Amino acid sequence: MILTGPGLAQATQRDGPMAKKREEIQKQTGEEIRNYTEANRRVWNQSAPVHREAARFRALLEGFRTSGFSCLDSTGTDRLTEIGVAGKRVAQICCNNGREILSIENMGAASCVGFDQSSGFLAQARELAAAGGLKTQFVETSIYDISHDFDAAFDVVVITIGVFGWMPDLGGFFDVVKRLLRPGGHLFVHEQHPITNMFEPGNPDPFALAESYFKAEPFVENSLIAYEKHQDAVGETSYWFVHTLADLITACLDRDLTLVHFAESPANISSEHFEVYANQAAQLPLSYTLTARKAGVIESDG
Ligand SMILES: C[S@@+](CC[C@H](N)C(=O)[O-])C[C@H]1O[C@@H](n2cnc3c(N)ncnc32)[C@H](O)[C@@H]1O
Repeated sequence: MILTGPGLAQATQRDGPMAKKREEIQKQTGEEIRNYTEANRRVWNQSAPVHREAARFRALLEGFRTSGFSCLDSTGTDRLTEIGVAGKRVAQICCNNGREILSIENMGAASCVGFDQSSGFLAQARELAAAGGLKTQFVETSIYDISHDFDAAFDVVVITIGVFGWMPDLGGFFDVVKRLLRPGGHLFVHEQHPITNMFEPGNPDPFALAESYFKAEPFVENSLIAYEKHQDAVGETSYWFVHTLADLITACLDRDLTLVHFAESPANISSEHFEVYANQAAQLPLSYTLTARKAGVIESDG
């Protein structure tokens, strides 16, 4: 599937008074974006020790001691193989403990860089890299502040589960994606479906509609970020932003990122909390994959 051009960019824009109100509420100053980002950095760092002690991390340490180990599921592996990461320069934005970008290094990437603003999680990423004798570079930075030294430095930029929701400014985020990619480079996204923002898995009826798909204000939480159930201890305040599929597609089209693949899936790739929505007769989409190509070519593209 190829979607591109101004006609389609227009078609994906939301319309009507609700959309206008949402756009109004979502307009943020640079200072507001920095404040949200800083609050989210604090809660991720506060959550890092819980993740370091989890069985999941011990399993990753063990896994990376085996040469060629990958934590990627078959969907991610197949899509990245299709794009072609072997011999390429690959970046992961919001790499967390690095498990996925290290797996991509094990798929034969020439060089890999993981960006994240949490020092606590990057320390874990470096532990995993050391366990596997891997050379991925980890850079501590807010995505909005990634150095211009990395402009056009990557053939492939990867974004996986649990990233867009932390971004107060999706357009600004995609400006960074665009500048990191070299002409003709590929963006690969494997994310949680935004329709899941409409439900609250902890509610007595987790299938009751709890929020608007077009929610304009961020969700505000005061708990540690945990992937397993019953680990949500009190923590610093964090902010989670709702970005619809149209927001995402428009962000790509506005930046000359041509969609070459898009698919929705019933698979839960998020935390245990969302397992309640999997394997239902009336199935919600729980995740999606998207591949987009930046305009332009370089000689090696043939
Ligand atoms: C849910 S985790 C990503 C998990 C990863 N996809 C995986 O499956 O292992 C989200 C990450 O985004 C990072 N993050 C959130 N906002 C950020 C920002 N503005 N700049 C850099 N990193 C950010 C957090 O520190 C966290 O490590």
